Amino acid sequence: MDKKLLRVLAGESVSPPPVWLMRQAGRYLPEYRQLRSRHASFLDFCLSPRAAAEATLQPIRRFGFDAAILFSDILLLLWALGRDLDFVEGEGPKLAPLQAEEISRLDLSALPSRLAPVGETIRLIREALPGAVTLIGFAGAPFTLAAYAIEGGGSADHLRTRLWAHHDPQGFSRLIEILTEAVIQSLTLQVQAGAEAVMLFDSWAGLLPPRGFARYVITPARRIVSALRARFPHLPLIGFPRLASAQLGPYAQETGLDGVGLDTAADPALVRHAVGAKTALQGNLDPAALLAGGAALAAETENILTALSGHPHIFNLGHGVLPATPPEHVAALLALVRGTSRQAAS
Ligand code: CP3
Repeated sequence: MDKKLLRVLAGESVSPPPVWLMRQAGRYLPEYRQLRSRHASFLDFCLSPRAAAEATLQPIRRFGFDAAILFSDILLLLWALGRDLDFVEGEGPKLAPLQAEEISRLDLSALPSRLAPVGETIRLIREALPGAVTLIGFAGAPFTLAAYAIEGGGSADHLRTRLWAHHDPQGFSRLIEILTEAVIQSLTLQVQAGAEAVMLFDSWAGLLPPRGFARYVITPARRIVSALRARFPHLPLIGFPRLASAQLGPYAQETGLDGVGLDTAADPALVRHAVGAKTALQGNLDPAALLAGGAALAAETENILTALSGHPHIFNLGHGVLPATPPEHVAALLALVRGTSRQAAS
């Protein structure tokens, strides 16, 4: 197998490790801003296969990452289930907050046709992608999708979601089950179109107490892993339960995922023992260290490489690239990880 990322997800330690970055496509790249300016709405942009394929490929051409991540958004799935979705410039995503009585109206039947452009995007990317680069598909995990649907967008405390889970665990579980099925369908469509690995983003998993984490994060992830493995026995899967590093041992062991993403706060030296030798770890440079550049970037990068040396490791950030990041810092990071330059970061 000549794809480094897939070797690591199969449990091999590769040195230097393969590298890609969450939000590697996006506003910090001038070529992205130019492409984006031709589409009024972010949703239309994501649903235009040629534009989304181009956005996916831009950082590969510029930097030569080991993986490309499909350019799309986790919230498209809620739109495909019939929820209104709007990305408001400068404010982030807006949805009509989901009410309990609306759960039964979430419509799985429209999902394949509404997400068909995503399949087309993946086919276009695969035609253009260099052979050594792995294409990653993705979905939001059910709990994070539920949080966006219930809050109607971002939230400081996610209190509507957390209260709902306590007041009405049956109704909340029903919502999680529907979203689990939708995630399975979306990832199936992506793999059939050519995604070679998939990642589950559970950005708000760390809000839950341990029993809620088991019920709404681990159980759905296990179901998603087993449904996809039944269809695609060799498909590698990565999970990213953000802000939940204390739970990564049980999360890795009980879900059967091949790889686990570490957020910025996770201590890689501790987590590598918690997850065991075969679970690949992905992460976890502080996006602010990448923005800072120079000596801070070099020192933080070295720390992570040392802490995960000898373990299957995919180098990444602990969260997405910040929009103010100078693209030269990304080039410097790649040189540091690959050992091709010691001066590049200064
Ligand atoms: O390069 C990549 O990582 C692939 C594309 C990608 C996007 N969003 C593009 C995007 C991926 C994998 C995501 C995941 C995503 N989207 C998550 C999980 C990861 C995380 O950040 O925790 C979440 C929670 C979302 C929801 C979302 N989408 C928010 C909160 C926002 C607004 C905040 C912001 O950064 O603008 C978005 C919009 C969004 N998704 C943009 C991009 C490039 C910016 C929109 C624009 O360019 O106009």
